[in-house]
Formats: sequence, structure tokens, C-alpha cells
Amino acid sequence: MTFAVPSSLKKLYDVDELQQRIAEMGAQITEDYRGKDLVLVAILKGSFPFVADLCRTIALPLSVEFLGLSSYGEGTQSTGVVRITQDLSKPIDGKDVLIVEDIVDTGLTLRYIEENFQTRNPSSIEVCSLLDKPSGRKIQVEARYVGFTIGTHFVVGYGLDLGEKYRNLPYIGYFDPPEEACTP
Ligand code: IMP
Ligand code: MG
Repeated sequence: MTFAVPSSLKKLYDVDELQQRIAEMGAQITEDYRGKDLVLVAILKGSFPFVADLCRTIALPLSVEFLGLSSYGEGTQSTGVVRITQDLSKPIDGKDVLIVEDIVDTGLTLRYIEENFQTRNPSSIEVCSLLDKPSGRKIQVEARYVGFTIGTHFVVGYGLDLGEKYRNLPYIGYFDPPEEACTP
């Protein structure tokens, strides 16, 4: 299947690279969480393909929860405003929570989630992010598990959007020249 995309959209990680790295992350998580009460909390919308693939590489009993969050407007710059659009369906007290994110950029979203979850008394909180963009950090936060560390690109695909588009792209891509990202 060939997706119709602008010629400025270049491939960064293809399907096989993503699956291979996710399998490695799942194996590590399986090691680390044996005997624990693991809950994957997927941050919507961006992490839905990632959590679907990741959870199938973790060979342990676990549950999956979804937290609907929005931290971006229509463009490529963080507004810094984080909003819960859908809360968890179950309490997480006493649980070993692994937050599953698509990408950590400014860190504002993660800080908000971590502070919010602390008040719910989980046994532990860690973060698993498919991508990390350290150049975008406004505050210091760190994911325990990171798939790929990227540069300053605005990326789309595999759950990541630009104005709600491109989430269904099977690979991760970026715009070159970057200005093309402003005209979806
Ligand atoms: P942060 O609060 O700036 O760390 O941003 C976290 C959220 O911003 C992610 O979960 C994404 O939804 C979105 N985001 C940050 N960088 C990108 C990008 O390069 N492409 C698409 N979405 C992004
Ligand atoms: Mg997101």
C-alpha cells in the first residue's frame, strides 16, 4: 500500500525499524516488571499504535488504560497548555504505572501527568516513550525507556499528527524543508 503524502515528507523510521526497537523495549520491560502489578497508561491520542504494538511484546500479565490529553493546538509548537480530555477508567493506587507516550518534547505534558498521578498513590510511576526530542525540553523530565532519540524535526506518522492528520501513516517521517509542516 502506498500512502499519498507530500514529496517533502521524508521517512525517518520505517515499519521494520519501529517493530524491531519496540520488541527490544518490550523485552526489557518484561525483565523489569516481573512480579509487579503493571498498568500501561497510554496517552491519547498519539500513542495508540505504539501501545498496541508494545503491549504485545511484553510477556507478562498487565492491564491497559488510556488517558486523553491534549497539549497542542493545530500547529507544530507546544502551547504549554495541557488538558485532560478523557480520564482513566480505573484507580491506579498500588499499581506499577508505566506511562506510554509517543514523544517527549518540552516535557510539560509528562510533568503534568506525573504530578496528577502522584496524587493517586500508585506503587511506582515510570515513562516509556517511543521518541525523545531532548532539544525541545523546557523542564527536566526523563523517560526510563526511550525508543529513539531524535533531533529538532517535527515528526508525523505511527500515531503522531500534524493538525490531526498523518496518524495512520505506518512509518515515522519528517518534513524537509521543515516549513512544509506548516501547510498540511
Ligand atoms: P511536550 O508536552 O512538549 O513534551 O509534548 C508532548 C506531546 O506533544 C506529544 O505527546 C505529542 O502529541 C506532541 N508532539 C511533540 N513533538 C511532536 C512532533 O514532532 N510531532 C507530533 N507531535 C509532537
Ligand atoms: Mg501526544
